[in-house]
Amino acid sequence: RRLVVLVSGSGTNLQALLDEIAATGAGAYGAEIVAVGADREGIEGLARAERAGLPTFVCRVRDCPTREEWDAALAEAVAAHDPDLVVSAGFMKIVGKEFLARFGGRFVNTHPALLPSFPGAHGVRDALAYGAKVTGCTVHFVDDGVDTGPIIAQGVVEIRDEDDESALHERIKEVERRLLVEVVGLLARNGYRIEGRKVVIQ
Ligand code: GRF
Repeated sequence: RRLVVLVSGSGTNLQALLDEIAATGAGAYGAEIVAVGADREGIEGLARAERAGLPTFVCRVRDCPTREEWDAALAEAVAAHDPDLVVSAGFMKIVGKEFLARFGGRFVNTHPALLPSFPGAHGVRDALAYGAKVTGCTVHFVDDGVDTGPIIAQGVVEIRDEDDESALHERIKEVERRLLVEVVGLLARNGYRIEGRKVVIQ
């Protein structure tokens, strides 16, 4: 299976996938990363891809006259690598109709909270501010909402009294990286189908 991974920041989830594939071999893992895309230049996620010798691309919203044209450009850039599965690993943009028309059903995202709780760009901060006792991470298929697609897997992380956002997010990411590596491998090796809100891995 061919993976394209989309990033917007440090890329530690991407790195976890790269390390796993290097350790187990693309054949055994069931997938190889063929390209990494981002919505901005100069991020560690792109540097990680370049260090791994992977093709990269950047689609910046500001380079496109309209949001729809950005969405179409992103879809084109991803399609150029002929992916079987697209993985959003900390990609901080909401894709639109064109992208979903082409990759919906084979586009997964990882979110650092237990959806449907605390969707959106500040899930870690929101769980902490709410006074939740546990939070975690969710790997789900992307649909036309924000963090609302069918859930594939979740991992639970306790919130500690002394936590601040970055300490909690680091602890979440330890679970999240393992969950993402496991889920992507399962989807790649076994195939799957989505029935309403249920994900059935064959
Ligand atoms: C991850 O926790 C992801 O869920 C969130 O942003 C973080 C990205 O981390 N959207 P990294 O770029 O993979 O290190």
